[in-house]
Amino acid sequence: MNANEPGFFISFEGIDGAGKSTHINAYCDLLRDRFPDRSVVLTREPGGTALGEQLRAVLLEAPMHLETEALLMFAARREHIEQVIEPALAAGHIVVSDRFTDASFAYQGGGRGLPLAKLNALEQWVQGRADGRLLQPNTTFLFDLPGAVAEARRSKARSPDKFEQLDLAFFERVRQEYLRRVKADPLRFVLVDATQTQEVIWDFLRQVPLAIR
Ligand code: TYD
Repeated sequence: MNANEPGFFISFEGIDGAGKSTHINAYCDLLRDRFPDRSVVLTREPGGTALGEQLRAVLLEAPMHLETEALLMFAARREHIEQVIEPALAAGHIVVSDRFTDASFAYQGGGRGLPLAKLNALEQWVQGRADGRLLQPNTTFLFDLPGAVAEARRSKARSPDKFEQLDLAFFERVRQEYLRRVKADPLRFVLVDATQTQEVIWDFLRQVPLAIR
């Protein structure tokens, strides 16, 4: 399914500590090299707009009701789609987003237990198009690894935000929901074995073909 012509929409996903942020900048540079006629727009969720970044600051620090959290994630996403993603895709750009809706299903759904029906409703609301299709990434790289390995990496790297303080069982549930989504939509996802070294992962990323003309 490509609801996004003439642009191309890529998202990076994975549990905290999987290493997606290590590769995303270099990947954008690779795209610029490979598709010199296209602009590459790097953005992130929650965030990506002035309001979205304010919501991000609240979401990553303040404790709140699970439904409030999901609604704010999708509120930030609504702005992001309107102000950044859709205009860029309409102009033929390549959009690379550090997380998108899969993260809401994985974290608020799998991790925290919000019923998937509610997430589906929010997704329809925020990503639904006039032609009945959903705005979705064309390609999603899922950096996958066991929760325990990710936790060990996180504890070395930085002081944790609200989500990163959650326990191992939480991250395992997040991972399983990501993997369930890969099974449900295998053509959209590229599964990246994030237990490998950065060099091996980079070699793999470079070789993934993209359906960009
Ligand atoms: P992350 O993307 O990992 O950024 P950083 O590398 O700066 O830590 O952090 C964003 C956090 O927000 C991450 O823990 C996942 C969470 N999140 C959700 O819970 N739901 C969502 O819909 C999105 C987009 C992110």
